[in-house]
Amino acid sequence: MSAPPLFITLEGIDGSGKSTQARLLAEALRALGREVVLTREPGGSPGAEEIRGLLLEGAPDRWSPETEILLFTAARRDHLERTITPALERGAIVICDRFADSTRMYQGLRGDDLRALVDRLHTLMIGREPDLTLLIDIDPQTGLDRALARKGGEDRFEGFGADLQARLRQGFLDLAQAETERIAVIDGGRDADAVAADVLGVVTSRLT
Ligand code: ADP
Ligand code: TYD
Repeated sequence: MSAPPLFITLEGIDGSGKSTQARLLAEALRALGREVVLTREPGGSPGAEEIRGLLLEGAPDRWSPETEILLFTAARRDHLERTITPALERGAIVICDRFADSTRMYQGLRGDDLRALVDRLHTLMIGREPDLTLLIDIDPQTGLDRALARKGGEDRFEGFGADLQARLRQGFLDLAQAETERIAVIDGGRDADAVAADVLGVVTSRLT
């Protein structure tokens, strides 16, 4: 790694503990005196948060995978322009709960050729990868149980079931194996403090 990891993303299946770990990492880095912008996708800017509601509420078949790719990318573009890029330019660390790897997996794995479409649109409209991605890996049933226990109206994707979660988990692991420089795999099947210690270890080892 040459550049310090200023733009950090967390990825993984639903209920893997990304939001919890993003929050704990932000607290730990702030305690070290760093400015941290903690954000999430879909969302992270006022316009992208509006698009989030369109994407996460309603029936699983509300949008085709192609339309979803466009909506997630539109939200990401706004998030990048208004939140992420300005924060990185002033030297803050950005911690983002999900980013483009989620589109590569959740939309890209849902049909032939969709992954290529995701990648082409990413190159055209986003053109930015995180400096470091933490893949919080967990058994799909544990993740689904945690996510469903949490409730709330944003359950459109959990409605796709355990089978898809298992394919997504494998897809994320394959991605990590193809991009070992950028993506670190963390075992999320332990208590939150043990996971957080590993996360902070990876981040601080790359900050120096
Ligand atoms: P994600 O953002 O990946 O969906 P969350 O951080 O929201 O995951 O966690 C999902 C649920 O599981 C929450 O209710 C959270 O409190 C709980 N949780 C998070 N991490 C752990 C952990 N390591 N062990 C047990 N429960 C956890
Ligand atoms: P999120 O709020 O992170 O859900 P969770 O806390 O359950 O992990 O994300 C909401 C859903 O949006 C999640 O099921 C994954 C999905 N998603 C995509 O399908 N594509 C994307 O590009 C992103 C960012 C999220």
